[in-house]
Amino acid sequence: MAVFCFTLIFSALVYSIFLKISVGVDTLFPSQTIVIGQTLISQSQIFELGFFSENRYLGIWYKSTPDVVVWVANRENPINNTREVLLAVAENGTLAITSGGRIIWSAELSEPASNPVLQLLDNGNLVIVDKNRESSSEGSFIWQSFDYPTDTQLPGMKMVYDVDFDQHKYITSWKNSNDPSPGDFIMRIENEGLPEVVVWRKKMKWFRTGKWNGLYFSGGPRLPNPIFKPEFVFKQEKLISSSEIFDSSNLARFTLEASGTLQRYIMNARRNKWNPVYGNPLDPCDEYGQCGPNGMCKIDKTVRCECFKGFAPKFQEDWDRHDWSGGCARIKPLNCENGDGFLEVGGVKHPDMLQYWLNKSMSLKECQDECLRNCSCVAYANPYITNGGSGCLMWFGELVDTREYPRADSMHNMYIRLPESELNSSIDLEEKGKKKPIELIVISIAFGVLVSGLINGSILLMTKRKRRGRNNKDIELPLFKLATIVAATNNFSNENFIGEGGFGPVHKGRLLAEGEIAVKRLSRTSVQGLEEFKNEIILIAKLQHRNLVRLLGCCIEGEERMLIYEYMHNKSLDYFVFDQNRRTILAWPMRLDIIMGIARGLLYLHHDSRLKIIHRDLKTSNILLDGNLNPKISDFGLARIFEENQCIARTKRVVGTYGYMSPEYSIDGKFSMKSDIFSMGVVILEIVSGKKNRGFNHHDHYHGLLGHAWLLWKENRFLELMDECLNDTFVESQVKRCVQVGLLCVQKFAEDRPIMSSVLFMLGTDGAILPEPKEPGFFMERSSSTVRSSPSSSMMSQNNSMTITDLEAR
Ligand SMILES: *[C@@H]1O[C@H](CO)[C@@H](O)[C@H](O)[C@H]1NC(C)=O
Ligand SMILES: *[C@@H]1O[C@H](CO)[C@@H](O)[C@H](O)[C@H]1NC(C)=O
Ligand SMILES: *[C@@H]1O[C@H](CO)[C@@H](O)[C@H](O)[C@H]1NC(C)=O
Repeated sequence: MAVFCFTLIFSALVYSIFLKISVGVDTLFPSQTIVIGQTLISQSQIFELGFFSENRYLGIWYKSTPDVVVWVANRENPINNTREVLLAVAENGTLAITSGGRIIWSAELSEPASNPVLQLLDNGNLVIVDKNRESSSEGSFIWQSFDYPTDTQLPGMKMVYDVDFDQHKYITSWKNSNDPSPGDFIMRIENEGLPEVVVWRKKMKWFRTGKWNGLYFSGGPRLPNPIFKPEFVFKQEKLISSSEIFDSSNLARFTLEASGTLQRYIMNARRNKWNPVYGNPLDPCDEYGQCGPNGMCKIDKTVRCECFKGFAPKFQEDWDRHDWSGGCARIKPLNCENGDGFLEVGGVKHPDMLQYWLNKSMSLKECQDECLRNCSCVAYANPYITNGGSGCLMWFGELVDTREYPRADSMHNMYIRLPESELNSSIDLEEKGKKKPIELIVISIAFGVLVSGLINGSILLMTKRKRRGRNNKDIELPLFKLATIVAATNNFSNENFIGEGGFGPVHKGRLLAEGEIAVKRLSRTSVQGLEEFKNEIILIAKLQHRNLVRLLGCCIEGEERMLIYEYMHNKSLDYFVFDQNRRTILAWPMRLDIIMGIARGLLYLHHDSRLKIIHRDLKTSNILLDGNLNPKISDFGLARIFEENQCIARTKRVVGTYGYMSPEYSIDGKFSMKSDIFSMGVVILEIVSGKKNRGFNHHDHYHGLLGHAWLLWKENRFLELMDECLNDTFVESQVKRCVQVGLLCVQKFAEDRPIMSSVLFMLGTDGAILPEPKEPGFFMERSSSTVRSSPSSSMMSQNNSMTITDLEAR
C-alpha cells in the first residue's frame, strides 16, 4: 500500500513532546498533525475533535460534555495499537489516521486540493477546505463529516434519500453506549408510496413516523414546534432530505440511541445538562406491529390491543396472555357482491402501506366508491389532511401497525370495510364508549337537550360517568425543606425567576429526584392557618389530570409558603399565541388540540374531580405547555386558599384578570362555574384570533375582541377573525365550531352560557347543531381607554360612579 507522503514526518522526539502538550489548534494544515492527547478545537469552542474511548476512536464531542460524542471517524475500525497514532492532512487534502504508518481510516475526497486545511466548524461539521478556492460556503468543502452521519443528526445536517444522485445518508446507532461501532438500528427516509422516516432494527421495521400527511408525519411529533424547525426538501413528491434547524441560542442534537430510541436533546447551558425532548418510540404502541395484523394499539394506563370491529383474535389464548402478535381475523367474510359498508375509525395512525393504491387528488367520496368497486380493498382514507382532507389511499390485505391517538384532533380517520351484517349488528356502544366517552353519552340524549337549549341536563350524566374508582389511598404530599428549595432555586436568584404567576412569583429549580421544578412562592396574603392550608394543598394535590399542572409538594416554614410544581418546558400559551414569530409554530391542528385539552382540564375541575373547583383566573397565560405542547392549566384551586369563606359565592376580593372576567364577576363579585366558562370563551377566541381581548382595537368600530367576533359571526365572516398565520392549516368547520362555542361561552348572561361538558361536546362533535350565540358580555360598552381599564358591563355604564373595591386584577 502506498505510504502517505506527509511533508513533515515527526521525529519520535517531537512526537513525545506533543503527547505532553495538549494544546488545541483551530485548523490543521498539511504540515501539522494531531496526536493522541491533543484536540482540534472549533472556533466557537463548542466542539472538539480528538481521540476517545481509550484512544481507539477519532471523534467529535462537545467541549462542555465530552462524554457526548456526536461523530466518529473510524467507528468500524478501532485503533488497536495506540502507539504512534497520527491524524494528518496530506498535501492533496486527504485526511487520514495512521498508526505506526498504517492507514486506519481515511476520508474520501471529491477532488484533490492544492492548499487543503482541516477545520472544525462551530456547528460540529469537520470540513476540509481548499484555501486556494477561498469561500467557506458548504459547496466549497472538498470533504465534510456531515456527509457521513454516525448516530447523531446535528442542526443543519441532512438525512438524504436521493435516487437520482445515488445519495443515501442515514444514521446508525452505536452498538452500546461504550461502543461506537454500528449497532442494530438505523433511521432513514423512505418514499414507499408516501414519504416517511423509518427506524429499522436489523431487517425488521421498528418504528415509523407515520406517512407524510401534507403537513407533518402523521405519527410523529407535531411539526413545527418551538424548539426545532425541520426543513424538508421534496422532489416530485419524494422526500429528498430532512434536516432540523434549531433556534441558534440552543445547543441541540437528535440521536438514535443504541436502544433504538430516537431522541432529541436540548442543552440547558446553565446547568450543562442535556434534556431529552420529543423522543420516539414514545410508548409501546409506537413499536411496529405491536398488535399484529388487523389489531389496533391503544394506551389507556397500559398498552392494550383491540381487534377492529368485525374482527376477532386469531389466537385467543395468546391474546389473553397479552401476546398480540398473532393479530385478528374477520369474524364474517366480506360480501362484496351483495353489499359491504364501512366503519369509520377516528384518531389513528394509519396502517402501514404494505399493499396499497394511492391517488393524490381524489375526494373521500370518490375514494369510497373506488374501494367499494374493488373487492380486495379492505380500507380507505384521506392520506392528506390539507384542504380539509384529500387524496385516496386504499389498503389491500392486512392492516398492520395501526394505533390510536388519544388526541382530540388527531385528524387521521380511516374507513374499514365490513360486511353489511356486521355493520348493522348491535352498535357497539361499549366499544365506542371507551373511545369517546363524552361525546357518545351526551349524544344519546343530549341532542334533543341541546336543541331545546336545556344544556344543563347533561351534567348529571357527565358527573356519573367519570366517577371511576380512583385509588383511595391518601396521597401523601411531600413537604420540602426550605433549605432544599433555596438550594434548588439558587436562592430564588434572578436567573431562576420565570414569571409572576397569580398569587406570587415563580422560580425554576432543580431537585435531584424530581428533576426540574417550578416553585410558586405564595404572597403572604393568605389568611389561612397552617393546618387549613395544608389540608387545602393536599386536596389540590389530589387533583390529577393530564391537562392540569401537577403539584409535587409544598414547603411551609415560618412565614414561607411555597408550592412545588412540575416544570413546563414550553412556558405558557400567551408566549406563543400573541407573539409575532412564535405564533406560526402553533398551526391549526395544535391550536384545536390545545383548546380541547384546556376544555378537558376545566371539565375535570368543574365536574369530575372530588372537589368542585372554580378556577376564577383562567386565562391564556395560565395555560402552560409541556415539551409536547400539551396544554396544562395552572393555578387551579388557589382561589380556595385565599378565600375566607368557601360557602359564599360572592366575594369582596375579586381575584381575576381584566379581559377574562365575566360581567357578573367583575361587577358583583359573583362567581360560579359560569364565570370560568366565560373566561374559557375568551381563551378560545384568543387562541383562534391570535389577539388579546384586553387592549383589542379595531379601526371600524369600538368593540372589543368579543364584540368584534360576534359582529363577524353574525355576518358569517368568522374566518376573518382567525389568525392569518393559520391560513395554510385551518379546517373551516373546526374554526367555525370554535368561534361559535367561544361566543356561546362569553354570552352576557351566565344562564345562557353552556356548562363545561356541553362545551367539550360541542367542540368535539362535527355536524352538531349548536345554538346561536347571543350578545357577548361587555358588548354595549364603548371602548375608550378609561372605560377599558376598569371592566364594566352595560349595567355599569349606566352608573359610572360605581367602583370595584379591592379588585385584585392582574
Ligand atoms: C492523495 O494522496 C494519497 C497518498 O498520497 C492518495 O492515496 C490519495 O488517493 C490522494 N487523493 C486524491 C484525491 O488524489
Ligand atoms: C386520480 O383521480 C382523478 C380524479 O378521479 C383522476 O382524474 C386521475 O386520473 C387519477 N390519477 C391517477 C394516477 O389514477
Ligand atoms: C383492485 O385494485 C388493485 C390495485 O389497483 C388492482 O390490482 C386489482 O386488479 C383491482 N381488483 C379489481 C377486482 O378491480
